[in-house]
Formats: sequence, C-alpha cells, structure tokens
Amino acid sequence: MRNVVEVNNIQKVYGKKGDSLSRALNGISFDIADGEFVGIMGPSGSGKTTLLNVISTLDRATDGIVEVAGKNITKMNATQLADFRAKTLGFIFQDFNLLENLSVYENIALPLSLQGQSAKQIRAKVLKVAKTLDIEAIIEKYPSQVSGGQKQRAAAARALVHEPAIILADEPTGALDSKNAKSMLEAMQELNEKQDVSILMVTHDAYSASYCKRILFIRDGQLFTEIHRTDSRQQFYKQILDILAELGASQDME
Ligand SMILES: Nc1ncnc2c1ncn2[C@@H]1O[C@H](COP(=O)(O)OP(=O)(O)OP(=O)(O)O)[C@@H](O)[C@H]1O
Ligand SMILES: [Mg+2]
Repeated sequence: MRNVVEVNNIQKVYGKKGDSLSRALNGISFDIADGEFVGIMGPSGSGKTTLLNVISTLDRATDGIVEVAGKNITKMNATQLADFRAKTLGFIFQDFNLLENLSVYENIALPLSLQGQSAKQIRAKVLKVAKTLDIEAIIEKYPSQVSGGQKQRAAAARALVHEPAIILADEPTGALDSKNAKSMLEAMQELNEKQDVSILMVTHDAYSASYCKRILFIRDGQLFTEIHRTDSRQQFYKQILDILAELGASQDME
C-alpha cells in the first residue's frame, strides 16, 4: 500500500545560534499508509504540535525529509507550499476556525471557491460532505447559530470537501463536551473506515485516541513506542492509559 506520509529523521531546533536552543524534535521517523487513522500522544512539551506543524507545512523542520502524497515538502518554497496545502491537506483545529460572517454552507465551500470551481460543482460536493457529517439541516445557518458539535462537524466538512490526501487534526475534540466529542470521533471513524480518508490526529485524551487504529507515543522529541489496535476499543483504551502512565503523562481529571 502507498504511503501518504513519510517522515525521515526529522529534527526541529528552536532558537538562534548563541541563544539557548530548544530541541523539539530529535530524529523522528515513521510512515503513514494510505487509509490509516493514526494518533500522536505524549507528555506536554514532547513535540506533538511541532511534529504536526512540520507535516502540515505550517512549520519547517531544521533537518530531515518529510514527504506527503509523494511530494518532498521540505524542499518547497512558500508559494509551492501554499498551493500544496490548499490542494492536498485538510485541517481540523481545536477551536473550529469557522468564519463567523459566512454561513455553514459558505464555510464548507471555501476551499473549492478558492480553487475557482463552478457553483454547480461546489454545491454537489458541499451537499455530499454535509450529508456524511449529518449537518444538512443547519447548512444555511451561521456559526453563531449552531452548537459546538455542529460547528466542529462543519469544520470537518470543510477539511474534507476538496478530498485531501490526508486530514490533519490537532485536538479536534478539545473544545467539545463528551457527547459532541463522541459524535465527532464517530464521524471521523466513519470517514476513515467507509471512505478510506487518511487521518493524523494529535490528542492528549486517551478516549479520543482509542478511536485511532495506531498510536505513536513521543517523548522528548523522539518516538517512544507505537501500538496498533487489534482488539476492542475498550481494550485499546486501557492499553493507552498504561503507556501514558509509563510515560509520566497520566490523564489528569478534567
Ligand atoms: N516557537 C517556539 N519557540 C521555542 N520553543 C518552542 C516553540 N514551540 C515549541 N517549543 C518548544 O518545543 C518543545 C515541544 O513543543 P510542542 O508544542 O511541540 O509540545 P506538545 O507536545 O505539543 O505539548 P502540549 O501537549 O503541551 O501541547 C517544547 O519544549 C516547547 O517549549
Ligand atoms: Mg501541543
């Protein structure tokens, strides 16, 4: 199976020469096969966000090679990166990032409008993805008029509408209550299982992580271990908690 992401010996050092340097990533390598649902976990400050930002082209690695959808992103210039991001990647952030003065429909349509697709093409694609995420009924509303869970599913629809090679999610359930978090995770699971969408998700939450099929644990900017889901989600959840305890990153009661 083709790899959608290949990360090769990535280093990321923050700070200029002479200042105190902070080594956020210290030689991380892994692949993500097409159609995988992979989680990244690890203690606070271990490098999770840095790693996601490097893969999502929002930040540059100091050393190493990252390939996404067969393209070496570490070699691209700013214009190429912007174009690559718009076509190949889908983002879901913790705080939704919907534009308040656009309707849900217009928000979802945005990546296609930016590509200059026709209104007719756009309509068909937006309605299809809205159906998948069960937000057809609220599509003409504005973000301020819908619930947190609906907002996050609208953000997921926007991340998906241009059929990206991979969805990159940073704490996608972080701002949701447990009921909405569950429906968001179920929607992501369905996208992954029924539509073969590849997903990479950073989360500090073991419950959210239990929806992944594979989890990479990082510590001090290095790969600590990885686990695959072979059993039930409940079993996987327990296994995740054990590793977090070993990592000294036990779940605080939130
Ligand atoms: N812009 C920056 N400048 C300097 N150091 C940074 C910068 N961003 C992150 N770091 C450092 O790099 C390391 C990794 O940070 P990162 O944000 O990737 O951690 P994280 O695993 O996402 O943590 P959290 O769970 O708290 O979100 C930390 O030591 C952090 O202080
Ligand atoms: Mg982080």
